[in-house]
This record gives sequence, structure tokens and C-alpha cells, in this order.
Amino acid sequence: AGPTNPQPYQDAYSGFTEYVLSINRPQYPSANEMYLKEQLRSLIDVEIVQRIQPSARVIPFGSLVNGFATANSDLDLCILDDSPNPRYKIKTELPEVLAAEFERYGFEVKLLTKTRIPIIKLVQGPTAQFPLGLAMDIGFENRLALHNTRLLATYSRIDSRLREMVLFVKHWAKVRGINSSYHGTLSSYGYVLTILHFLINVASPSCLPNLQHIGAQVPVPFEELECEGYNIWFFKDLTNIPPSLNRRSIGELMAEYFSYYAQFDFRNMVISIRTPGGLLTKTSKGWTQALDRVGPEDQKVRSRNFLCIEDPFEITHNVGRTVGKNGLYDIRGEYMRASKLTRARDPRVFRALCEQR
Ligand code: CTP
Ligand code: MG
Repeated sequence: AGPTNPQPYQDAYSGFTEYVLSINRPQYPSANEMYLKEQLRSLIDVEIVQRIQPSARVIPFGSLVNGFATANSDLDLCILDDSPNPRYKIKTELPEVLAAEFERYGFEVKLLTKTRIPIIKLVQGPTAQFPLGLAMDIGFENRLALHNTRLLATYSRIDSRLREMVLFVKHWAKVRGINSSYHGTLSSYGYVLTILHFLINVASPSCLPNLQHIGAQVPVPFEELECEGYNIWFFKDLTNIPPSLNRRSIGELMAEYFSYYAQFDFRNMVISIRTPGGLLTKTSKGWTQALDRVGPEDQKVRSRNFLCIEDPFEITHNVGRTVGKNGLYDIRGEYMRASKLTRARDPRVFRALCEQR
């Protein structure tokens, strides 16, 4: 490999890079906030959950551990139980028992059972530690989420530009009203996968390797290979990953990202970060029309397949399944708008990017 640019990250987009960082900086969570959240996790683990069910434990996942947390972001927790004979059955009995217990502790509690896995949503009003209040999602036996969190965390350690892009896109998607899986658009996790696909497969030279593909498949323990029937292996030896030859600035990469998705063929293609090349067709996945499958309690679970992003491990799962027809229209419209505004390279123009819609 030739020498890399001695003045990295300096280009025609440096003004836009500055803008992106100026949006991100106020959102970095403080070390104190991270500490307080860990304390709260530990309190929930030891004082509440283990008292009710001694064999269970509470593990953090999502943005708190993958490096993409923002100030005041919610807390994603997962309850695991390995015991062959637990006091309460983890998926069917424990959620209700715990929901009642959280109420006694003064949390506002909502128990969702029509979801893929039971989820307790907790809201804590403003306190001295969390002046803006705190939202928590507690899932039961959501083991694959722990693994995809580790995959994202590993990617974020390889190239610091990934984190900046994620924070910016999360903010942009929130203020533009396209970051809500409950309202027909895409979850933050979905946006992270769009950025990974871009950095692995589209940016040239690529900014990130495909961790599910590189590396000799040396013998690894079974726990690293399989979870709930899915292949969860990925390359974890960061010391053996050379730095990327792509020295583009965050601003230029962001501009390329927006223009790539402004023209993306959402109608036919599936984003798949595990696949070399990063794309599959909807036809090859059989994700061509809305599918209703019957969920655990006879409720209908609808997968719409307008926007398709294959989960890196749970490859039968379309992370974009929550996106409806209107949602896709809005998302594509926002990518086009963003692409146009950033190409102007004029602060007076691109500052409109994150205006509240
Ligand atoms: N997750 C998942 N499948 C989905 C959505 C989410 O497995 N369809 C898991 C992932 O492990 C993800 C975590 O849930 O890291 C949290 O998802 P989300 O709340 O979308 O992302 P955050 O990074 O926590 O973003 P935010 O700050 O907006 O909450
Ligand atoms: Mg979250």
C-alpha cells in the first residue's frame, strides 16, 4: 500500500465536517451520565430482578455499550436466565411479576407482550441524577441483540468516523421525523446498518472491512459460532486490522452517504452487511410482499418489506420491516433533500439539514 494522505481529513468538505461535529459535540454523553446509568442498571439487576428471580441477570445492550450513545438516550437492558428450573418462567411469567415490582419502585411501567419478545418499558420522571427523566427498555432473553451490539461495538472501535456518522444520522433522522419504528419509519439500529453498508461496501477505498467475512476461520468455541440457530461468528482481533486507506473527511463521507441513499434502489434491493458486496435482491430473500405471520399469542405480526435491511445475524429478520409505504416515501425524500443540501457545500445552505420538520 502506498503512503496515505499526510494531511488526512482536509478537503473541500471541511466546512461541512465542522458542522457535523458541531451538531454531535453537545450530544456526547458525559462520563458521569454513563456512570449513573451503569449504577441504575446494577440496582435493577441486584435489588429488583435478582431478588425476584435469583438465577436471572440484567445485561446492558444497544447504544450504551456499542459506542453510539447520546446524552439522555434511553437504556436498553436484557434479562437472561440460564437456570434449567427458574422460579418464574422467563418469557411467560417473569415479565408480569417484574412489571408489578417496578411499579412498586415508582417507575411508570408498560408491559408489551405482542412484540417478538416480551418488553417492559420503564419511564422514570426527572430526578437529581437524570434531570430530564429516563426511559428504559427491558427485553427478555433477547440474546441475539447482545451479539449484534458486540458487532457494532467492534466496528465502532475500528474507525472513529463511524461513530460521528451514526450520531449525526441519528440526530438528523430524529429532527426530520424519520426515526420511529412505532410510526412507520426506521429504528436507529436500522440507520446504523445503512451506514455500515456504506462504509464497508460503497466508500472507495472502503473504510471498514466486513468482519463477518475476513479472517481465517480458525477453530472457535461453539458459543462464538451459534446462537438460537443463527451464525454469530465475526472477526474480533482488532490488532490485525490495518487502518483504512480511505482518508476522506467525515463531511465528505456524509455527503457521499446521503447521495448514495438518495439514489438507492429500495424497491428491489436488500441491504445485507454480512454479504460480500453488501446487497441482495428482495426476490432472493423472498421479501417481495407484505407477510403476516402469527406471533406467539396469536396476534398478527406484519412485515411490510418496503425497505429491507437484513439483520447481520438473524438473517430471517428484516430490520426495516416497520417501514410503511409513507415511511419509505418520507425517508427517500429526506435522503434526496440531504443530498442536495450537502452538495451545495455552503454553510448557509447545509445548515437547513437539521431543521425540525
Ligand atoms: N435491536 C435489534 N433489532 C431491531 C432493533 C434493535 O436487535 N430491529 C437491538 C440492537 O442490539 C440495537 C438495540 O436493540 O443495538 C437498540 O436499538 P435502538 O434503540 O434502535 O438503537 P440505539 O443505538 O439504542 O438508539 P437510540 O439512542 O435512538 O435509542
Ligand atoms: Mg436505544
